[in-house]
Amino acid sequence: MSDEIRSAIDFYERHPISAEIIKAKLLAARGTLTGITPDELYPHDQDHYGGLAANDALAQRAGITQGTRVADFCAGLGGPARYLSARYGADVTGIELTPARVKGAAELTALAGLSDRVRVIEGNVMAAPLPDASVDAVVSQEALLHVPDKAKTLSEAFRILKAGGRLAFTDWVAHRPLSQADADLMWAGMAATNLYDIAAYTKLIEAAGFTVTSVDDLTAEWAEILQARLAMYQKLRGETLAAGTASGHDAFYESYVRFVELVSEGTLGGARFAGVKG
Ligand SMILES: C[S@@+](CC[C@H](N)C(=O)[O-])C[C@H]1O[C@@H](n2cnc3c(N)ncnc32)[C@H](O)[C@@H]1O
Repeated sequence: MSDEIRSAIDFYERHPISAEIIKAKLLAARGTLTGITPDELYPHDQDHYGGLAANDALAQRAGITQGTRVADFCAGLGGPARYLSARYGADVTGIELTPARVKGAAELTALAGLSDRVRVIEGNVMAAPLPDASVDAVVSQEALLHVPDKAKTLSEAFRILKAGGRLAFTDWVAHRPLSQADADLMWAGMAATNLYDIAAYTKLIEAAGFTVTSVDDLTAEWAEILQARLAMYQKLRGETLAAGTASGHDAFYESYVRFVELVSEGTLGGARFAGVKG
């Protein structure tokens, strides 16, 4: 197992957003875990920037409607997968590296009554465990930053898509190279590996075989969102410590403060890419 893969698993095994804290919060708020609706999970289970609106933006670009077969690369606890199914009627297979997240996704999906059309399977998106030409859409959010071989990952997305299938994803981008100190901090705190600028990332998508249909620079949007997300994490740290669930490591909180600065100053940022196979 490579350092990048080991670090991503280690980071997410300790991440403060976990199925355990979500269940503890729901239990405290409603007294039982029976009869939970997908909507009740959304304030807790979307581990990306921009919440449900970010899912809608991807759904629109990926052409997701009733019955669309979707693969969600790096699905986490399955929050976006459940939303795409509950809101649009999609059948979603998430691919997720970290075993604790695969288990947590199954628990939350069962609680929300969506197990018949949402599943998160354990796997590495650099070798996606799905057959050729088996899905209509591939989506992903704020995850490929952890994946060392993005070219291979994009080729895997291309392979599993049917002809005419669509790719839509968001990820970190580096508008300027990071200093070594910042690169080290992003690696130690958030398992962030090689990052690209928007032009280089677009070329990678094209090199995998896609026709790129849209590219949106989300940096200004993220600069605002991330201030609130940092405050959310600082509050969540106390909540997880009180509940006895995974609470994140010190380097995570240190690196997040610097991450927010780097996005505010425009060194790091985010982008949404969309493309079509054929
Ligand atoms: C920031 S979370 C995003 C989760 C989900 N997309 C969401 O928006 O809620 C990133 C996820 O990517 C997963 N991941 C990282 N590297 C991966 C890889 N090579 N293959 C599959 N999943 C990976 C992590 O385990 C983590 O759950």
